[in-house]
Amino acid sequence: MTSGLKSGPDPGLTSAAIADLRSDTFTRPCRGMREAMASAIVGDDVFQEDPTIRELEEEVAGLVGFEAALFTPSGTMANQIAINLHTRPGDSVLIEEESHVFLYEAGAGPALSGIQFDCVSTGDFTRWTPVAASLVREDSLHSATTSLIVVENTHNRHGGRVFPLAGLDLVRDFRRSRDGVALHCDGARIWNAAVATGTSVSSLLRGFDSVSVCFSKGLGAPVGSALCGSREFINRARKIRKRWGGGMRQAGIVAAGALFALRHNRERLAEDHERAAILADLFRELRATRPEKVLGAKTPDPQTNMVYVQVPANRDRIVVDALAKAGVLVLPTGNGWLRAVTHLDVPASAMARVREVFATCLLA
Ligand SMILES: Cc1ncc(COP(=O)(O)O)c(C=O)c1O
Repeated sequence: MTSGLKSGPDPGLTSAAIADLRSDTFTRPCRGMREAMASAIVGDDVFQEDPTIRELEEEVAGLVGFEAALFTPSGTMANQIAINLHTRPGDSVLIEEESHVFLYEAGAGPALSGIQFDCVSTGDFTRWTPVAASLVREDSLHSATTSLIVVENTHNRHGGRVFPLAGLDLVRDFRRSRDGVALHCDGARIWNAAVATGTSVSSLLRGFDSVSVCFSKGLGAPVGSALCGSREFINRARKIRKRWGGGMRQAGIVAAGALFALRHNRERLAEDHERAAILADLFRELRATRPEKVLGAKTPDPQTNMVYVQVPANRDRIVVDALAKAGVLVLPTGNGWLRAVTHLDVPASAMARVREVFATCLLA
C-alpha cells in the first residue's frame, strides 16, 4: 500500500506566496516532519505516559542546561507559567518596554498572576542593567516587591537583536546582588541567538532560573514550546499548566514535530540570518538613493532573521498591499514600520525575486 504521505505533492506544503515574511511562525511542516509526527509513539501525557513528550522534554532540558522541561502548547503559556511561579499577586516584574511578554500576551501577567510591570525603557541593552537597577522597588511597606526580571533573547521588536553577551553578564551580576529576585528568559528565539553568536544555548542561559523556548518559530514545528527550570520548578509548572487547561493527552504527535525541528533545523538558522542580511543590504541601497521612500531600518546590520524597514506612515498600507499582490507578505507594525522575517520556507532560490519585488514596491 502506498503511504498517503509519500505519494504526490502535499497541498499543505505549497502556497501561492513567493515568500511569507510576516513571521517565522508561518513555516509549514516539511514531509520528514510530518512523517515523524504520523509515526510518533504516544500515550496520555496528563498521566506523563507519552514517551515522545518525555523524550522531547529530556532532550530540550539537556540542550538548554536545565534539570527539567515541560512541553506547552504555546510560548505565551510557558512565559506566563514562569511569571505565575516566580511571583505573588501584587509583585512587580521588571521588563523591557517592547517585550513580547509585556506587549503581546493579552495582559496575561496582571490578569492571571496579579502582577504589575515596571518597564525598562531603553532598547540599548548595554544600558539595560543600570536602568533596571534604578527601577527595582525598595523593600518597604508601601512598594510592590520586585520579584522577577524577564529578558527577551533574541528581541522581536528590536529587530531580532541578540542580548549582548557582556550585557547578560551584567544581568547575572545584578540578579545575584538582589536576593529573592528570579530571572526568566523569553527564549522563543534563543536558538537564533546561539547560532548568531556561535555560543551554546546553555551558556546564554547561565544564571537564569527559567527559560521558555519555542519550536514553532524558526525551527518550523507546527505547535509547541517548552518551559525549562529546576525539577522542583517544573513539577509545580505541570500543575499550573493543568489548572490553565494546557494538559494535553496524546500530544506526542505534535511533540514529534518539535523533536524533528530541534534535531534538524537549528544549525540551518544561519541561512535565515544570511537572507535577512540580503534584505537589509537592499533596504540600505534603496534608502541611499530614495530617502523619501525608504526612511530607515531598525537593524541596518541584522544579527538574526528579522529586518524592519520604515516607509512614510501614510504609505505603509499601500506598500503592504502592493507587496502582497506580488507575492511577498510583510507585517506592518505601526508608524510606517514593516517587518520581514526570514525562515525555512523562504529558500535561497526565492531571494532574487523577493529583492526585485521589494525594490519595485518600496519605490513605487
Ligand atoms: C519573543 C516572543 N516570545 C513569545 C512569543 C509567544 O509565542 P506563542 O505565539 O507561541 O504564544 C512570541 C510569539 O511570536 C515571541 O515573538
